[in-house]
Amino acid sequence: MSIDFLSRRSFVAGTTAGAAALTLGLPRRLLAAPPGPLVLEARPGTAQLLTTEEPATAIWGYQGGAPGPLIRARQGDEVAVTLTNRLEVPTTIHWHGIRIENAMDGVAHLTQAPVQPGERFDYRFTVPDAGTFWYHPHVHGSGPQVDRGLSGLLIVDEATPPDVDHDVVLQFDDWRIGQDGQIDTASIGNLHDAAHAGRLGNVLTVNGKDFETVAAKAGDRVRLRVVSSCNARILQLGFGDLDPWIVALDGQPVAPHRLGAGPLILGPAQRVDLIADVVGEPGGRFPIAEVSGEPFEATAIVLDAGEGSAPRADPPPALSANPVSVPSAKPERTVDLVMSGGAMAFLQEARFEGEVLDGRTLATEHGLVWALNGVAGMPEKPLFSARIGEPVAVRMVNDTLFPHSMHVHGHHFVIYDDAGAPLPGLRDTVTVDPRAETTIGLIADNPGKWMIHCHMLEHQAAGMETWFEVL
Ligand code: C2O
Ligand code: CU
Repeated sequence: MSIDFLSRRSFVAGTTAGAAALTLGLPRRLLAAPPGPLVLEARPGTAQLLTTEEPATAIWGYQGGAPGPLIRARQGDEVAVTLTNRLEVPTTIHWHGIRIENAMDGVAHLTQAPVQPGERFDYRFTVPDAGTFWYHPHVHGSGPQVDRGLSGLLIVDEATPPDVDHDVVLQFDDWRIGQDGQIDTASIGNLHDAAHAGRLGNVLTVNGKDFETVAAKAGDRVRLRVVSSCNARILQLGFGDLDPWIVALDGQPVAPHRLGAGPLILGPAQRVDLIADVVGEPGGRFPIAEVSGEPFEATAIVLDAGEGSAPRADPPPALSANPVSVPSAKPERTVDLVMSGGAMAFLQEARFEGEVLDGRTLATEHGLVWALNGVAGMPEKPLFSARIGEPVAVRMVNDTLFPHSMHVHGHHFVIYDDAGAPLPGLRDTVTVDPRAETTIGLIADNPGKWMIHCHMLEHQAAGMETWFEVL
């Protein structure tokens, strides 16, 4: 990855960490659930993305903030949210990772009409799975809206949550900020980003801020809900000596296992729940840093919240499984999804709205530089139709020179290793490496029309999107 990451602020963060420290017990805007109809107003606002000595940044956000309100529900609750559009462009809300009723999935032109400026839309849905989820707009080319700050978290609590002393949200986002401290809007939508790795930011925030500090006592057990709402960056998070257990991936529990030495790799839209015991002396500090380039410290757990105690003797127990059906073996029916295009491997031609166009016309007239199975943009026909309950494998072949984080709506899936054995855990988004392939399997048990697309949102807008139907 090309990284020109925060050379200015990696210095600043180290020096202002103390000043910017805020105790993160619960997120700032916590809404207890079931919340009666919560109104989410998509509108312009400002956020203190940079250090407090620097200007606030004009953004678009739910209630004008970034991130938007944290919505918290219990497993099985009905969530009621009314979206009010106070932007000058159409928008919707997609509830990423929720195995939702199709009509509530928030995909403009596929599951609902876009919500026009001044209009509203009522979202009502139950949350079948406990876990860490998030929400964001899903109109064609929602990249610019997410990029400007429209996103928030939806946390669904387990019936019996794990025994921890702190339940902490760390929502990472990267922003492209100009010298004036404002979002570089002039570069939004450029084809160069779209044809390369997507729109990479130069400023990283956690929970919409420059730096996040979690105050704990020595011996405390901390749950960290790590979320990436980056448009395109693949985060690599280093946890130093913390050595957390991974307990859930994309909201779905996995048998607890140690992260170990490697960084935690998080593609756009992915989530990982971690549990860590902070073992150390009072005053100790556990930095969490983005390490893909020069390490950039974004968060620290600081042992300054009082006298400590002995850490728990046992590793964290597994979270209770969610009611997700998974294929018992690798499904026989396999659908190929071949990704092509992008810089250095440009499309020769692709189908667009029923016509075959050459690569130049696609790029210059339609802003399309990627294709899935030779189709740029949403195809008229689904990638596949499945009967309810049918197991389906999708073999994702990345015939490009860039990684792609592929997201499936309405379902979670298993990933198979090269020998065809399922890897631990279920995901809703998987990163497929350049010139590599990944096979996933799911039970098509949620009726409706569901998207599969690259969550590097500029890639999606530039062609990497398709859909399937469950009948
Ligand atoms: Cu997170 Cu189709 O989206
Ligand atoms: Cu992509």
